[in-house]
Amino acid sequence: MTTTPMPAFPTGFRWGVSTSAYQIEGAATADGRGPSIWDTFAHTPGRIADHSTGDVTCDHYHRHREDVALMAGLGISAYRFSIAWPRVQPRGTGAANPAGLDFYDRLVDDLLAAGIDPVATLFHWDLPQPLEETGGWLNRDTADRFAEYADLTAARLGDRVKLWITLNEPFVHLSLGHATGVHAPGRFLLLDAFPVAHHQLLGHGLAVSALRARSTSPVAIANNYSPVVRYGDTDADRAAALAYDALHNRLFTDPLLGQGYPPGFDPAVVRDGDLDVIAAPIDVLGVNYYNPTGVRAPEQDSPLPFEVVPLDGYPRTAFDWPVVPDGLRDLLVGLRDRYGDALPEIQITESGCAYDDAPDADGRVHDPERIAYLDGHLRAVRAAIDEGVDVTGYFVWSLLDNWEWAEGFTKRFGLVHVDFDSQVRTPKSSYAWYRDQIVRR
Ligand code: BGC
Repeated sequence: MTTTPMPAFPTGFRWGVSTSAYQIEGAATADGRGPSIWDTFAHTPGRIADHSTGDVTCDHYHRHREDVALMAGLGISAYRFSIAWPRVQPRGTGAANPAGLDFYDRLVDDLLAAGIDPVATLFHWDLPQPLEETGGWLNRDTADRFAEYADLTAARLGDRVKLWITLNEPFVHLSLGHATGVHAPGRFLLLDAFPVAHHQLLGHGLAVSALRARSTSPVAIANNYSPVVRYGDTDADRAAALAYDALHNRLFTDPLLGQGYPPGFDPAVVRDGDLDVIAAPIDVLGVNYYNPTGVRAPEQDSPLPFEVVPLDGYPRTAFDWPVVPDGLRDLLVGLRDRYGDALPEIQITESGCAYDDAPDADGRVHDPERIAYLDGHLRAVRAAIDEGVDVTGYFVWSLLDNWEWAEGFTKRFGLVHVDFDSQVRTPKSSYAWYRDQIVRR
């Protein structure tokens, strides 16, 4: 880690933390919440590394006041959380469940009272299970259902949420959820999963207009990006790198920014007018970044046009992900170069790392690797700003150690350690470090 002081950030830069509903809320059946695909998946034997579920996780649903106090202690100006669709519409259709919305109403008011902007994501992968039973995102109708849910939510919270985010990482929901089956709903469709990409995008576009009808706050989507590092120098390796880049980095962003689908990735389910709906202007592009991806040509009999290979030569997190802060600078500059004037303002909606953090004999949790990680990535953002990229915010993933999807409780991403038996929260040394970065602004 460099010892030179962190450079200044522009006035008004948004400092935040991110979480998502299923990963922290628990209270799986409280106040009329219906089941989501993640409840079903987590309760299916063999799906989750430690056989855990999100039934309780951080119990944030009952402890949100304590968690907002932790945020206030950090001095953040914004909190990105997600709203659980099955709390708002337990069956994925029909009238809103007022008790489900009441929770977010309280959360939003508590945030505002603490001087923190509520930033709400509508879909962080927890589709109501009844919608999955009619095809989920493979079914075009789910896009309309999503817009209806957006409307109901904005009718209640639209006067106070300061930034709306429609979808979180539609690429991950496509690839891990529907192509390889590692995440809920556990479908293994490989390239036949493409309708899921189009229907999520269509749902996004329809939700943008539903949100605008109810709220004057800006609207965004949070995509995740991974710069491609090509291994090998053959024409086949080059083609593989281009294919992976199109799939991971362009499949969602090209159509969102009015450029249609990248060549070779046009889902057959597109209807006249859909691309216009999808290209409805957004105010902010949310960028989630964790690491670049190594890619080379696949073996002859592979069903995919590329092979992903581990990147050598970098420190690694507990997830075995390489730590490459410069990748974030490259990504931001690359987005600007690729999309030019079509690119809206960017906020980094997720950036963070998992390490095996545990309290020491004094009960303190030291996580110097996370401090080094965040330090490097913040400097990378600053370097991109210096190169003229319009980046206006940074949200650390995550406030709390939480339930990390298929990895259960085995991966800790928090600035705050959580003992999942006692629910005791212990700020780590990275919490104090991040607070100091914010205070110095
Ligand atoms: C997701 C988070 C997840 C994080 C770390 C992102 O893909 O949006 O929900 O916890 O990465 O894996």
